[in-house]
Amino acid sequence: MHIAVLAESHAGEDRVAATPDSVKSLVKAGATVTVEKKAGLKADYPDAAYEDAGAKLATRAAAIKSADALFSVRRPDAATLDKLKDGALLIGLLEPHGATDFARQCADAKVNALAMEFTPRITRAQAMDALSSQSNLAGYRAVIEAATLFGRAFPMMMTAAGTIAPAKAFIMGAGVAGLQAIATARRLGAVVSATDVRPAAKEQVASLGAKFVAVEDEEFKAAETAGGYAKEMSDEYKAKQAELVSAHIAKQDIVVTTALIPGRPAPRLIDKAMVEAMKPGSVIIDIAAANGGNCELTQADKVVEHNGVKIAGYSNLPGRLPADASQLLAKNLVNLFPLLIDETGALAPHWDDDIIKGMALTKDGEIVHDSLKGS
Ligand code: NAI
Repeated sequence: MHIAVLAESHAGEDRVAATPDSVKSLVKAGATVTVEKKAGLKADYPDAAYEDAGAKLATRAAAIKSADALFSVRRPDAATLDKLKDGALLIGLLEPHGATDFARQCADAKVNALAMEFTPRITRAQAMDALSSQSNLAGYRAVIEAATLFGRAFPMMMTAAGTIAPAKAFIMGAGVAGLQAIATARRLGAVVSATDVRPAAKEQVASLGAKFVAVEDEEFKAAETAGGYAKEMSDEYKAKQAELVSAHIAKQDIVVTTALIPGRPAPRLIDKAMVEAMKPGSVIIDIAAANGGNCELTQADKVVEHNGVKIAGYSNLPGRLPADASQLLAKNLVNLFPLLIDETGALAPHWDDDIIKGMALTKDGEIVHDSLKGS
């Protein structure tokens, strides 16, 4: 099976879908890998390292032409899709929620597309779960960005010139990104609290040494889906949550918001009035910026300032750690590889496997994902 890895087409996307290490593993498993020249440069993986690992370097056109499968970080552009051979496989973070037009494009190009966002949340698939691997880094980076924008220190410092109080950090949404944000803020010495609507989060927050703050009513007790994600909460719950949060937020220096509902706009957790109640110098990092943001004032890919409060809406936080983010994503793809081939090593996705079934958007010119069929 011939795998191609291209430089990403999205402006500002520095990640790459294979690293020299992942190439080594794929070649060992029987694949040939062609990497577009300079594809890994922005993630600090030079061409020579790919060659040493056993990849062929090629022009973009040659890499696409040879591909049975295209490993990608994000969606490739339409021209690339069209040039892939019939029956080629495309795998990556394809932003599949509601993506009927994109799925139609893939189907028309006879490209079989697998979206990593739809990796089922089962134990067997954990090592292939790119949402988790990237969210983890996003949570870490969010706190580092906050520390950079904050005009004060995180830890308590006792000096001859006086004592500096520790920063207070509040993490909203304690999933993969939120838990890493809690751990990172704690390591930097902040006093950390966190909230979530899933009851399972309570114990996880406490185990990291943070205080759990949430409206724990009957709705909260049933807020987790079988897939491990949060449900969208009722307006009544949201009002109770807003009341609790606004009192808490006014005392915080740092707020990191991570709340997401798959396939829906990000829940609005912080309104303008809540921002106005915060102290000047406070910082909000909105990890949900790409999905509309958890804060009313968030603007994607901008740092805005409102009454002295900085609100940062970096929409691609994992992309701000391109070397590590690429390494983990590439490893997710290596772990998926056995489900893509038959015993001879030829391309033969295991369409009946629950993992491939869950991820498949298109197959043989048809849209096959339930969420996109018939629309
Ligand atoms: P996510 O990225 O979809 O959402 C982030 C967090 O925001 C979640 O914890 C969610 O409950 C929370 N949230 C949603 N609406 C909210 C609201 N209105 N207010 C406050 N918080 C809100 O979720 P993520 O991080 O992908 O994971 C959710 C869970 O899935 C975690 O418990 C994680 O451990 C589990 N998981 C399981 C995997 C497996 O078994 N293979 C793999 C990855 C995650």
